[in-house]
Amino acid sequence: MKVFRCRICGDPYLGEDIPTNCPFCGAPAKYIVMASYWEEPIVTDLSEQSRENLMTALGLEVDNIRFYKCAAQMTDNREGKQMFRALAKIESEHASLLSKLLHIEKPTVTLDKIACYPSYKDNLKDSAVREERAIKEYAKFFQESKEPRIKEIFQALVQIESDHLKLAQERANK
Ligand SMILES: [Fe+2]
Ligand SMILES: [Fe+2]
Repeated sequence: MKVFRCRICGDPYLGEDIPTNCPFCGAPAKYIVMASYWEEPIVTDLSEQSRENLMTALGLEVDNIRFYKCAAQMTDNREGKQMFRALAKIESEHASLLSKLLHIEKPTVTLDKIACYPSYKDNLKDSAVREERAIKEYAKFFQESKEPRIKEIFQALVQIESDHLKLAQERANK
C-alpha cells in the first residue's frame, strides 16, 4: 500500500493506486500526490478581495451542507440517499478548507428538515441549481484571486462542483 495526499484538502489516502477523485474533497486525481513529495502550500497574506470571496464561498458551502444533510434524510431512493450523504461530506470538507484559510472556526451545521424538499426529484433539481451557482461564483473568484494557492483552490472547486452538477443533472433528467 502507498500513502498519498491531496494537494487541495491536504488529507492522506492509503491505497495501491491514486483514486480517480479525492475521497474527502472530491478533487480530481491530478491533485493527488505521493505523501513523501508533498510540500506544504505557501499561503501569503490574503487580499481584502480574497478574504471576502472565501467568506462568500464558505457561506455557500455551509448552505449546501445544510441542504444535502436534509436531502439525505428525506429521500428514500436507495442510491440518492447515499449520494446526498457523500455530497454533504464533501461540502463539509470544503467548508473546513475555507475556514482554515480564513483562520476561523468551521461553522457547525445541524440537521434542518426544512432546508430541502420532500421529493427526491425536487432535491435533484435544487442540487443542480446550487452546484451551478457555486461553479459560477468560484470561476469568478478564480479570476479575481492574485494568490497562487487561492487560485489553485478555486480552480479545483470549479472542477469538483462541475462533477457534482453532472451527477445531479443525469439523475434529474431520468
Ligand atoms: Fe482532497
Ligand atoms: Fe463544495
